Amino acid sequence: MNDALAVNAECAASYRTPMQALDLAPSADEVRAEVITAIAGPQKMLPSKLFYDEHGSGLFDKICELPEYYPTRTELGIMRDYATEIAFAIGPRALIVEYGSGSSIKTRILLDHLRDAVAYVPIDISGKYLVNSAAALQQRYPDLSIFPVCADYTRPLVLPDVDGTVSARIVAYFPGSTIGNLEPAAARAFLTSIRTTCGRESGLLIGVDLKKSPSTIHAAYNDAHGVTAAFNLNILRRLNHEIGSNFELDTFCHYAFYNPSLGRVEMHLVSEKQQHVFVPGIGNIRFDEGETIHTENCYKYTLQEFTNLAADAGYRRKRVWWDAQNWFSVQFFEGEG
Ligand code: AVJ
Repeated sequence: MNDALAVNAECAASYRTPMQALDLAPSADEVRAEVITAIAGPQKMLPSKLFYDEHGSGLFDKICELPEYYPTRTELGIMRDYATEIAFAIGPRALIVEYGSGSSIKTRILLDHLRDAVAYVPIDISGKYLVNSAAALQQRYPDLSIFPVCADYTRPLVLPDVDGTVSARIVAYFPGSTIGNLEPAAARAFLTSIRTTCGRESGLLIGVDLKKSPSTIHAAYNDAHGVTAAFNLNILRRLNHEIGSNFELDTFCHYAFYNPSLGRVEMHLVSEKQQHVFVPGIGNIRFDEGETIHTENCYKYTLQEFTNLAADAGYRRKRVWWDAQNWFSVQFFEGEG
């Protein structure tokens, strides 16, 4: 538990001043258990959600501003260009549940155009970050009920008890192509779980990065200023800090590449020498020179591939918007009863 966050599921008022979050964040023990399983296999791995501690969330915001990192500005452009249509597709009196809200910048465009939005439930794994962005949003939208939830949303989740009777419908908002972090089968399962959390007939507004020239994708994950490298390496810094491992950060280097046949970017940390690293709960683990820790996958889809994937989770696609270059899409679905 994060002490900075107050836990109070019952009393909605307690969310208000100062902004507090419902704290369902994974404990240090849970993080440690996940790390141990992931790093013990033949291909060492780490869960990409661990990127997003406070420092990592800040680095991610910097990535979003990089000239090479096209997804954020392209998605923002789509949101701006089609805000009226998107708001119309969602309809009035919506309750928006955002998965991985981060700094909620795209959400503002949505909230500026929605008619009589009832409530906003931002969910994020980075507690302090969540509370700060929710507080900033509350200032900008004083009449909107905001109920931040600090949680690992890949685990089962119950929405805070917002008065649902005033809401016409719940719409899950999952921007940024974060869905791409999951293997297609896991993405299908995750969409199914969103439908369980938000209701079988709830809406889903989701940002999905599209397949395109491999070199454009490659550049987005290999920026000239090394921000993505710092973001990738931050996961080791965090583990040293939180679970007491002793990774030497300057003996690992960032490596990211796009695999067009799998349609995914893989991010790795490459050990530059043969070494042993102490990880509490496991002991010393050996790295060969050149051995990698696989830290992230970022899947890219065609429009049709993603429509099919969502259909398997019971979502029918209602609308889709994209940019002039066909690089990114924002798609609106409805759950089939
Ligand atoms: C937040 C998962 C959408 O996959 O592009 C950015 C994360 N990783 N640069 C992505 C990320 C490296 C990002 N997502």
